[in-house]
Amino acid sequence: MVSDSDIARAARRLRDAERLVVLTGAGVSKESGVPTFRDALEGYWAQFDPQDLATPDAFLRNPKLVWDWYESRRNLLASVRPNPGHYALADLEDLFPQVVIVTQNVDGLHRAAGSSDVIELHGDITQHRCYDNCQGNPTLIDIHELDWNREKGPPPCPHCGAFVRPNVVWFNEMLPPGALERAVELAKAADAVIVVGTSGMVQPAASLPYYARWHGDAYLIDVNPERDEIAPICDLFLQGPSGEVLPRLVQALRGSP
Ligand code: APR
Repeated sequence: MVSDSDIARAARRLRDAERLVVLTGAGVSKESGVPTFRDALEGYWAQFDPQDLATPDAFLRNPKLVWDWYESRRNLLASVRPNPGHYALADLEDLFPQVVIVTQNVDGLHRAAGSSDVIELHGDITQHRCYDNCQGNPTLIDIHELDWNREKGPPPCPHCGAFVRPNVVWFNEMLPPGALERAVELAKAADAVIVVGTSGMVQPAASLPYYARWHGDAYLIDVNPERDEIAPICDLFLQGPSGEVLPRLVQALRGSP
């Protein structure tokens, strides 16, 4: 449990910041009921390793299997809502001139909570695109306008006939154009970086706090119930669930003279 004095210390150090970057991972959505990527899969999906489903090779080998897995994740996400951690991060916009959320999550919960500048490094699970991006990157497709035989798996792209796929970044794939570049520049220029709910094991997202540390002058705060890979380079580790720690931090910032 984070002490009041650590929260007060974080608030004191953040108070004069103008440019804030927040890097988030699956942990920030945990209290909304979204399973983290590494959580055991349930039911039918328990026999698979997510790392074997979230790759271009897996999709090309068995498009229906991967499509169905993403459909099941999308259905699960349809009913989840932002939690107090997401709302606290959105509230930061009232307190600092610039707040950019850089997230590895594909669940859209930061935008749903009201954050207005969100870089989604790994895409958005509610969107779909042509596998070949035949009309440019990304060629987004509204699958609700398509009529196809779901028994056969993904629909064909209405422009070129290639498969339609989820608009997420799979292992071994490039990030959306410009997303990482912007995030790196922001990290280097940030006055403070708050890292929330990420194991810090997946590159290149995990390197952003290092850019802030080695190429910038930011104060680094890490929020996580467990010590993660990024904690050692942070100035302050706030140990606890983000749905509890972040609202306390916002409250302290509001109370700061
Ligand atoms: N609040 C904050 N952090 C939490 C909470 C919570 N309530 N519960 C768990 N965590 C932390 C865990 O301790 C862990 O460090 O969230 C982290 C989740 O780690 P991962 O599951 O590895 O998620 P993430 O770091 O986002 O993974 C990065 O890798 O699997 C791919 O593409 C996937 O976007 C994902 C990326």
